[in-house]
Amino acid sequence: MSGGICAGFMGVTTGCTSVTYLEATVVDDALVIAKDQLLEVDFVLVKHAKLNTPIYLRKKDDQYLAVLLECTHKQCEVRPGAQLLKCPCHGSEFDSEGHVLSGPAEQDLHSFNTWHNERQIFIQ
Ligand code: FES
Repeated sequence: MSGGICAGFMGVTTGCTSVTYLEATVVDDALVIAKDQLLEVDFVLVKHAKLNTPIYLRKKDDQYLAVLLECTHKQCEVRPGAQLLKCPCHGSEFDSEGHVLSGPAEQDLHSFNTWHNERQIFIQ
């Protein structure tokens, strides 16, 4: 499933991004996504019934980065972008690995361990 997100921050429209949402399956306590889902997009958002906010999943070199899109300031859902993650509530910004770039958030976004085989990506 995909949808569009249009984001405006501090009165400036930063643009619209097409976002792909994927529903994860669970295998041995890990969320599992088919690897081919990331072939033609910069990132996907992984959803699961046990998560309040999606996980931002992107490929970096030979690894996959998985970051929970829940702001560490007051738990708003952070909006994704190819390079920048922004919180719509009070303006915190994070890089694509979830590191704080600007506050008021002081803690990085929660990141998950990932591993992969030929066909699947596992997030835990
Ligand atoms: S909840 Fe994200 S900056 Fe406040």
